[in-house]
Amino acid sequence: MTKKLRVGIIGCGAIAQEAHLKGYAACKDVEIAAVCDVDGGRAREAAGRFGVPDVYTSHQELLADRSIDAVSICTPNYLHATQTVDALKAGKHVLVEKPMATTREDAQAMIDAARKTGKTLMVGFTHRFFRANRHMRKLIDRGTIGKVFSVRVRMAHRGPYESWSAKADWFFRHEMAGGGAVLDMGIHALDIMRYLAGEIVEITGMTATVLHPIRDEDMAVAVVRFAGGALGYVETGWHSRPGFGGIEIYGSEGTMIHDYAKGLRLLNPKGEEIPQDAAELEGDGGHDFEVRHFVECLQTGIQPEVGGEDGYKSLDLALRLYGK
Ligand SMILES: NC(=O)c1ccc[n+]([C@@H]2O[C@H](COP(=O)([O-])OP(=O)(O)OC[C@H]3O[C@@H](n4cnc5c(N)ncnc54)[C@H](O)[C@@H]3O)[C@@H](O)[C@H]2O)c1
Repeated sequence: MTKKLRVGIIGCGAIAQEAHLKGYAACKDVEIAAVCDVDGGRAREAAGRFGVPDVYTSHQELLADRSIDAVSICTPNYLHATQTVDALKAGKHVLVEKPMATTREDAQAMIDAARKTGKTLMVGFTHRFFRANRHMRKLIDRGTIGKVFSVRVRMAHRGPYESWSAKADWFFRHEMAGGGAVLDMGIHALDIMRYLAGEIVEITGMTATVLHPIRDEDMAVAVVRFAGGALGYVETGWHSRPGFGGIEIYGSEGTMIHDYAKGLRLLNPKGEEIPQDAAELEGDGGHDFEVRHFVECLQTGIQPEVGGEDGYKSLDLALRLYGK
């Protein structure tokens, strides 16, 4: 029998419980060995919910368990870099939530630590693992919509406390979040644009604070230029009801519109809908799939689809939008 992969979770809040713990629990060859949260009550609640034996209130204590192979880091943004580097140095593989860090220097230190230790570093850009988004990428690679001319992405909701998960003040505190809606939601939009239409070589835009009484932005609009010549547009924020949006890609031979609420439509150059092969849109996707991809990378030795360098590029774009 193959040895089960033993994982630990650092930070037991919303994303840990709704995505990582659920995702690992669904992998039959994984044992969730330990959880850690500075809030001991929350750590115990997560452990109880998922049947986890060991509970810690310091990430260093969890990392000292030599039998743990890998960790998910699900803490507030400002902790990602230190905890990731500590984990890599302790010999663990790391799946760190986005944004991987709040500065380029920290992100680079994480990449360097992964290289030096030979351990895997993956960044949690979940939207790459949504089934319809993966299908869009496949259609682009096949040339189905021809040359990509333009990309529009809208990812927004009403913000922490009113979004699907985020229920914490730290999102509004600059020293803990590193930024506002751009680092939270906008970075997903920038990353999915890169995943679908290639590298972005130019970005400009505006940020604003319209709804929440915070120092950072709760809304932003950006325009980007792709290396392949296409232009793109991003709208993001914590100001919007209804929440979310989707992705539109206009090409020489067709159009793809992925409305997150209604699904994916493919249109020919005349604007007529092209029926899709339902089988291609079925199957796993989302958070569970992202966690399982990380596990499969560790089991098979393949590189994760979103490694540290990719995480760096998307962070770099978000920081450039801030004029940093
Ligand atoms: N990939 C996605 O779609 C997605 C969605 C939501 C959140 N996230 C990211 O996940 C991260 C966590 O977000 P959340 O919504 O779960 O926040 P949260 O506030 O619900 O959870 C964070 C947890 O970390 C704990 N914590 C704080 N300091 C700690 C420390 N030093 N050691 C251990 N635990 C500590 C807190 O007590 C809290 O329980 C953020 O970086 C966020 O951007 C990603």
